[in-house]
Amino acid sequence: MKTILVTGGTDGIGKGIATHFLKMGERVIVVGSSSTKGNLFLQEASRLGAGERAVFLQANLSLVNENKRIVEEVKSRFDSLDIIVFCATNHKTNKEYTETQEGFELSFGLSYLSRFVLGYGLKELLEKADQPVILNVCAPGMNGTVNLEDVQNKNNYNGSKAKYYGSRLNDLLGVAFAHNDTVGKIKYILFNPWAVQTAGTFEAIENPFMRSMMKLIYKTIGKPVEEAILPIIELLEKPPTSSLSAYKQRKEVSLSMRTFDKENALTLYNKTVQLLKGVLR
Ligand SMILES: NC(=O)c1ccc[n+]([C@@H]2O[C@H](COP(=O)([O-])OP(=O)(O)OC[C@H]3O[C@@H](n4cnc5c(N)ncnc54)[C@H](OP(=O)(O)O)[C@@H]3O)[C@@H](O)[C@H]2O)c1
Repeated sequence: MKTILVTGGTDGIGKGIATHFLKMGERVIVVGSSSTKGNLFLQEASRLGAGERAVFLQANLSLVNENKRIVEEVKSRFDSLDIIVFCATNHKTNKEYTETQEGFELSFGLSYLSRFVLGYGLKELLEKADQPVILNVCAPGMNGTVNLEDVQNKNNYNGSKAKYYGSRLNDLLGVAFAHNDTVGKIKYILFNPWAVQTAGTFEAIENPFMRSMMKLIYKTIGKPVEEAILPIIELLEKPPTSSLSAYKQRKEVSLSMRTFDKENALTLYNKTVQLLKGVLR
């Protein structure tokens, strides 16, 4: 039996993936901030006859020390880990620059630092599995890059730009992870699901008219979760052989794009290590 950790596994794409693997007879650990959603997930697992293989861990993954706590808990409870899927996100766009209590920009904390801390923190546990995989659901395949002098968008903050940055940071995270991984056992996959009809996408839009418009657009261009996760399942069942790969749905994305620049990736890695030194307890 495989053990799969899914952050944001209590809703949307993450929940779709978590449920698929429960149905396949695997053990699934999901992480989310809401206990209500977590308990719903556990109830659904019981209905599937998979209650004993389902684990919910409550954590606010915007906070570095909460991610660290999850790393320690998973390491103490499980002997190995086959797959990590990163899905935790908050689609809401913050109009103003907002910091977590640890002093990081909110979306930087949840969409980037969380994946950094969990990926590196659980690396050794993953290496105990036969074919370990990290699948980071973000948005590779888009143009642009981050400003390495202002990785948290403190200057001239723009909420939409911060969201867009989150994915560019994950592109660099994948590149640095694969570069730093001298063991070379883990396959790191950056995955862009394109438009997916998740509740989180719509609930994030405050204006009711705009929300209805978005629903209409997503009805045309988007996919329901059950369909959107199919290429993800295929990749997890038969991972690519290279240490790093990127996909936009089923189409492979070229790693020669500027967003995957190795020098930028290593600069960001070093900056991140310095930033984390200030908060890790
Ligand atoms: N949907 C799309 O169209 C789309 C397009 C491109 C990329 N993506 C990417 O796909 C991934 C999944 O997106 P989705 O649409 O499936 O999201 P979603 O439906 O909104 O689900 C988000 C998940 O993250 C959890 N979460 C949110 N804040 C959290 C926090 N502070 N701590 C811990 N967990 C937290 C939520 O649980 P709680 O509410 O309990 O915290 C929930 O389980 C994301 O990485 C997103 O960027 C999505």
